[in-house]
Formats: sequence, structure tokens, C-alpha cells
Amino acid sequence: MGHVMHLIPAVVISGIVLLYTATTKAAQGNLTDLNGTSRTPGRSIACRAAADVIFILDASAKVVDESSYQKVVDLASAVVRSFIIGDADVLFGGVTYSDDAKKLFDIKDFKTHDDLTKALKDSHLLNMSSRPDLGLDFVGYHEMFSIDLGGRYNAAKLVIVLLAGKSERSDLTKEAAKNLANEGVVIIAAGIGSDVEPELVDIASSELNVFKVKSFGHLNQLIKEITSRVCQVSKIKD
Ligand SMILES: *[C@@H]1O[C@H](CO)[C@@H](O)[C@H](O)[C@H]1NC(C)=O
Ligand SMILES: *[C@@H]1O[C@H](CO)[C@@H](O)[C@H](O)[C@H]1NC(C)=O
Ligand SMILES: *[C@@H]1O[C@H](CO)[C@@H](O)[C@H](O)[C@H]1NC(C)=O
Repeated sequence: MGHVMHLIPAVVISGIVLLYTATTKAAQGNLTDLNGTSRTPGRSIACRAAADVIFILDASAKVVDESSYQKVVDLASAVVRSFIIGDADVLFGGVTYSDDAKKLFDIKDFKTHDDLTKALKDSHLLNMSSRPDLGLDFVGYHEMFSIDLGGRYNAAKLVIVLLAGKSERSDLTKEAAKNLANEGVVIIAAGIGSDVEPELVDIASSELNVFKVKSFGHLNQLIKEITSRVCQVSKIKD
């Protein structure tokens, strides 16, 4: 009898533990809103913005090696994961550059964190000279913000340009950035190293859009700064 009295509460407690575990697991599953957009659990959302954002990532020899390039990719992935992805929220496109520009994906291509992160991780170092002007020109020339390629009328247009160091042709970078800005695109410029700042200032739409770290190992310090800035220049939804 004494045994039973002790067993019942034990069963009840283990039942509660099981129920609690199941509930926690369910809560950790992918959250899907009514429009079918998903977000990764366990990461806070920077803001609810409506924005089309294109990364222009340095894949030139300034990046030195694949492991440093992966740190660039990790920064971009972390920025992606800070937003709700979807047709009513934030969408991302991607370009890399070296001595030529290369499209990674269009705004319309990927609408989950995992697909975007995978597409970024599948890209590689191009390891030639550094021509961010060609990356900026590519976005305009190929109309990457157009409705056909997934851009939306009611979303802010932004590019996030990363420079691993001063480029070969700062003069052309400045001109390319100006052309894109004239089309209403907000330019955020982030860079690595001591010699990159003047060029970042030339590229960015505002000095508030300039971010710099001293090495690849410090790139993660920019996650919060870049995401906050994207929020500030985007249309924030209720
Ligand atoms: C969450 O999403 C990923 C990729 O979109 C998928 O593979 C996984 O099965 C989903 N998990 C749940 C619990 O729905
Ligand atoms: C990049 O190019 C340089 C010079 O050609 C070469 O020495 C280096 O191994 C290359 N690095 C990678 C990661 O391919
Ligand atoms: C779904 O998308 C439509 C059109 O973009 C929007 O009006 C609506 O509010 C969205 N619904 C939810 C639940 O996000």
C-alpha cells in the first residue's frame, strides 16, 4: 500500500514531464505564419520590416582563404536569420565579386532561412582582384530589384556591400554606388581592415551606414549593427 501511494505521484510526475517535453519540442518546431513563411526558432527577430535586401560579398583575393570567406558568409547568414523571411517581410538576393561579378541567387529564389543559408554557404572564393564596382553595377544592370526577379513595390530596397579591403578601383566603386543610390537603393557598406574606411564612406548612402572591423574574426560584431540599420531604413510594420 505504501508502495502504491509512492508510485502514483511518481507516475503522475513522469506523465507531466513527458507532456512538458512534448510541448517544448512542439514549441521548438518551425513557426509558420499564415502566409507560409517560416522562421527559425530560438532566435529573436530584429524587427518586422518589409525590405528587399541584396548582399554584394567580397570573394576576391583580399579575402585570402576559404575559411575567411566562410566568416563573410556566416555574417550574411546571421543577418538573414535576424529577419522573418517572406513575401510580406524580408527577402534576400546575393552577388559575389572579384574581377567579375557572379549572381548567387535572386530575391525570388529562396524563402526560408535554411535555403538562404545553404545558398550562401555553397558559394566560394573567386580569389582574383577586388572590383566591388562590378558587383554594384551587376545589381543595376541585371535589374535584381525588379518585380520579375522578386522585388516588391512596397518594400525598401537595400544592398549590403562587404569589402575585405580597399578595392582596385575606388573611383569606379564610388560611381557605381552613386548610380545604384540614384535608383532609390539604400547602400550599407561594411569592411575589414585599416585602409578600407574612405571607400566605405564613398559607397554608403549615409555615414550611419558604414561599419568596420579590424579582422575577419571580428565580423560577428557587425550582425547587430547591420540588422539594426536595416530596420532603421526599412518600413517597419506593426
Ligand atoms: C523545419 O524546416 C526544415 C527546413 O525547412 C525542415 O527540414 C524541418 O523538417 C522542419 N521542422 C519541423 C518541425 O517542421
Ligand atoms: C588564391 O590565389 C593565389 C595566387 O594565385 C594562390 O596562391 C592561392 O593559393 C589561392 N587561394 C585559394 C584559396 O584558392
Ligand atoms: C499575408 O500576405 C498578405 C499580402 O502580402 C498580407 O496582406 C497579409 O496581411 C499577410 N498575412 C499574414 C498573416 O501575414
